[in-house]
Amino acid sequence: MKRIGVLTSGGDAPGMNATIRSVVRSGLAKDLEVMGIFRGFGGLINDEIKPFNHRSVSNIINRGGTILKTSRCEEFLSKEGQQKAVEVIKKNNIDGLVIIGGDGSYRGALALSKDWGIKCIGVPGTIDNDLTGTEYTIGSDTALNTALEAIDKIRDTATSLERIFVVEVMGRLSGYIALNVALAAGAEQVIIPERKFDLHEMCHEITEGYIRGKASWIVIVAEGVIKGQDIAEKITQNTDLETRVVVLGHVQRGGSPTAKDRVLATCLGAAAVDLLVKGESGKAVGIVGEDINVVTLEKAVTKKVIKTETIYNLIKILT
Ligand code: F6P
Repeated sequence: MKRIGVLTSGGDAPGMNATIRSVVRSGLAKDLEVMGIFRGFGGLINDEIKPFNHRSVSNIINRGGTILKTSRCEEFLSKEGQQKAVEVIKKNNIDGLVIIGGDGSYRGALALSKDWGIKCIGVPGTIDNDLTGTEYTIGSDTALNTALEAIDKIRDTATSLERIFVVEVMGRLSGYIALNVALAAGAEQVIIPERKFDLHEMCHEITEGYIRGKASWIVIVAEGVIKGQDIAEKITQNTDLETRVVVLGHVQRGGSPTAKDRVLATCLGAAAVDLLVKGESGKAVGIVGEDINVVTLEKAVTKKVIKTETIYNLIKILT
């Protein structure tokens, strides 16, 4: 292993820059040459590659987004697209790749390693926290805190005007952000893909609360279940109470990474380089407890099982 490449792919996540910095500097410390590949798999196909040095990653540990840019690349899904990428990898004498992203990026890394024999290691960079083999993905803690800050502000107006607010949060098919932000923000209701949701029970609880004198609610909805607008309309139809909807959207993907995400990013970036140096491929790094965990890319993209019982029940009890 003499020369490695690093790319970010899919939705950006806070902490991707800290990961890039760690990959570049720990690679250089191991006497590797490190190439920055721009715009994900699309940039790989188009040969958007340049050598990185120590200075290339100065002052980025605190920055959101990704200095390498990112993309969701349709062309790379085809064998022809992958072949172009492989030709570019060979032309640039790149011996191994660190691929930072979510499950789509991992599937790309899996294709490159399994079907084309390119050495690839995945690093989990996504706000969704939906990858198997890691308790946390890089960016999920920052996104959670960003959502929390917004919902705290929404609570101020919800209590003042005595209204029901439905807040839709990101996460694709994962309820990680929704569930955890609901508990942290003291929300009254949460709707997540991992648990069955009963509209009538929820509306009944709201009506009962209203009769007892409770005048404001925060309802958190994970985007993977139902649109915030739709649930708000259903609440109004069933309770006659006024609702407002906030879709937090892409604000959750931005901003300076939290300390937790920076530490995770830095540890996992270095661990990915270690694996490449050891000749490993087709693996993904993650964190379990205090330890670095390594799983196959195949396993990493299987559905993550998250425990929801304790937090979900607490939200119900504390309402
Ligand atoms: O996977 C990260 C994520 O932010 C999801 O939470 C969300 O569903 C999706 O990306 C949004 O994608 P885009 O930025 O392409 O609209």
